[in-house]
Amino acid sequence: MPTEQEIRDALTKVMDPELGKNIVELGMVRDIRITPDGEVGFALALTIPNCPLKNKMKADAEQALLALPGVKYVDVTFAQLSPAELQAAMEKGRGNLPQLNLLNKIDRVLCVLSGKGGVGKSSVTALLAVALAKQGKQVGILDADITGPSIPKLFGLPTGGLRGGEGGMLPAITCNGIKVVSINLLLKEEDAPVIWRGPMISGVIQQFWRDALWGSLDVLLVDMPPGTSDAAISVMQSLPVNGVVLVTSPQELAGMVVRKALNMTKTMNVPVAGVIENMAYFTCPDCGKQHDIFGPSHAGEIAKTAGAPLLARLPLRPQLAMLGDAGQIEEADAPEFEQIARQLMAME
Ligand SMILES: Nc1ncnc2c1ncn2[C@@H]1O[C@H](COP(=O)(O)OP(=O)(O)O)[C@@H](O)[C@H]1O
Ligand SMILES: [Mg+2]
Repeated sequence: MPTEQEIRDALTKVMDPELGKNIVELGMVRDIRITPDGEVGFALALTIPNCPLKNKMKADAEQALLALPGVKYVDVTFAQLSPAELQAAMEKGRGNLPQLNLLNKIDRVLCVLSGKGGVGKSSVTALLAVALAKQGKQVGILDADITGPSIPKLFGLPTGGLRGGEGGMLPAITCNGIKVVSINLLLKEEDAPVIWRGPMISGVIQQFWRDALWGSLDVLLVDMPPGTSDAAISVMQSLPVNGVVLVTSPQELAGMVVRKALNMTKTMNVPVAGVIENMAYFTCPDCGKQHDIFGPSHAGEIAKTAGAPLLARLPLRPQLAMLGDAGQIEEADAPEFEQIARQLMAME
């Protein structure tokens, strides 16, 4: 029968395809069992409980162990990495991120994240990009919301607008010179459904990062998939993120949803650059009074919990939804973003 060390050695052939390192190095192998009658087993501790790759890794492990002399049966069970172990695994995986296309130079990557959908993440991404571009920055948007891409629509970019050049794919370009890469630019019809699981999403994101000709960018904004989904975790794993911009709305209590998002950034070891509260109030056009339509703000508490500045509280602007629907988000009047853009660019 093989020794425990021989089993470990054999298991170094089994890769976590998402992190690009082997499961032994990632600390995912636990409780190795060896019985004299030829059965060996271990627990495979997963990064995500329902990791869609778990059966692939299990099959690879079985194959690797059955190849050892004396092994007749293999029993692989599943376990889960603790938050600290997960963080260590992520850091190992991070050193293995896809290389940026040599023609690209991207100074900083900011992810726009929210606890849940519909709080205005894509709108904030777009408006922030416009403000940055107007300040003379070279800006790109990577639309990582693969299953609900909305960036091209906001900017009125036609489907099929992503073209290939010799060195890679060419981003679509908005009126203000913002470079956009989105799955929607590849689809024939704008509303074709995209039902993809984590690993495929992570593959596409890595391609958008590596194979798109971004050129020289001061900042790449990433419009994230909603909340703390597997897709969101995959995106964070796939890119060298410098900071997260957390978008909230007053409907989100300072509770669970946001805490989950914050835990995710902590686990991934990515700092929160700032918090933006969207749809915070409505200014009545007749009397000029501010109304807290969605209830009192929790943005202050959330920012405090995140240990990050509250960058802005943005009002409800019906005009914003209209311009977004018409593909004219670049025309929107959202003066707060001038300051938000400056503050984000001034951070380390
Ligand atoms: N400050 C705002 N005022 C009015 N409508 C807004 C505002 N922010 C976002 N919206 C609208 O709310 C909807 C959801 O916004 P969106 O940016 O798509 O959210 P998410 O990307 O988080 O799902 C869109 O119709 C958008 O036009
Ligand atoms: Mg969106």
